[in-house]
Amino acid sequence: MTHFDIVPVAPSDHALTEAWLDLQEAVDGHDFAGLRPRGPVWPLMRLVVGGGDTRREHWAAVCDGKVLGHLDLNFSDQDNTHLLGFTLGVHPAERRRGVGSALLRHAEERAAEDGRSTLHCWTAVPHESSPLVRGDGGSFLVSKGYKGSLDAAIRKVDLDQVDESALDRLLDEAWERAEGFELVPFEGAPPEELLDGMAYLHSRMYTDMPLGEWDLQEADIDRGRLLDWSRQRRRRGELHLQVAVRHKESGEVAGFTEIVVEAGEERHCSQGDTIVDPRFRGHRLGTVLKVANQRRVREWRPKMRYVWTGNAVSNEYMISINEAVGYRLAGQERVFQKTIA
Ligand SMILES: CC(C)(COP(=O)(O)OP(=O)(O)OC[C@H]1O[C@@H](n2cnc3c(N)ncnc32)[C@H](O)[C@@H]1OP(=O)(O)O)[C@@H](O)C(=O)NCCC(=O)NCCS
Repeated sequence: MTHFDIVPVAPSDHALTEAWLDLQEAVDGHDFAGLRPRGPVWPLMRLVVGGGDTRREHWAAVCDGKVLGHLDLNFSDQDNTHLLGFTLGVHPAERRRGVGSALLRHAEERAAEDGRSTLHCWTAVPHESSPLVRGDGGSFLVSKGYKGSLDAAIRKVDLDQVDESALDRLLDEAWERAEGFELVPFEGAPPEELLDGMAYLHSRMYTDMPLGEWDLQEADIDRGRLLDWSRQRRRRGELHLQVAVRHKESGEVAGFTEIVVEAGEERHCSQGDTIVDPRFRGHRLGTVLKVANQRRVREWRPKMRYVWTGNAVSNEYMISINEAVGYRLAGQERVFQKTIA
């Protein structure tokens, strides 16, 4: 058993912060090779930019100035206050010496202190489509009483390989079914007239997507929270490309999709949420939205190469749209969850 302390990561402690970033890159390279690489800016931005509805804590297991492991905690404060989200990792050369166990114990203690009953964590698991991904995290969590609660497939689209003329044909067919709707593309905070409709659809994401056994409960997202999320993204230097689709006659927001390009990212970006209001489903709006926003990526960032997405494996409709617009299977991830009280 190695001796170490678990300390909060303060951004003003530059040596600790750098060692903490190096540790995360070492874990990523060792355990999650072939998946979306995460540069140092992503964790750095989460360290320094907090949000109104979520408290974050960042901890490091430190021995003689060396960072052996990291633990990141997410406390949602305006919904799902029974949950504590966490991510942890231990340097590949320091494993099986109790560091991971101590960090996980720390997470469970912080959950209990904060009155949270359920811990949950997303992590990639081995899959034939991602031969370099290791399974240490899942095995460790299962040995600690965590249960796999939701399986999600990871897909990526290579924008260099997309058959744009096939997409044109797909769009033509889709628009025949989407008469009476119009697209509204925007970046950053939604325009005033879309704010309430967008907030409503963001709330629906919590109830409409397949959740398996994952204990995510509904959330009331209002315009204030949406604007706060936009402010945070701006501070983190993120490009937030969104397209909404509006029902022309009523003016209602029928659906939206979003892609996020994080600061410092030149080749990889992420698909965020996509949703069509149940009242407006069956008009191919999902396809129209996805093609439009995918094309905007290259307009804003001509050299961007890959967009990554994740869908519950049971989410057949979304997956078939993703396949049609060029996404291909690239791995699998799982939510692990444990109730402590
Ligand atoms: C998961 C991880 C944090 C474990 O860290 P660790 O410091 O090696 O964990 P510990 O030494 O405390 O392990 C304690 C026990 O967990 C179990 N365990 C740990 N790793 C395991 C593995 N790869 N396979 C099976 N059981 C494992 C064992 O029971 C182990 O006890 P033992 O060594 O006496 O057999 C580390 O493998 C890691 O960083 N993986 C990549 C990141 C990740 O997947 N994080 C988890 C999800 S957020």
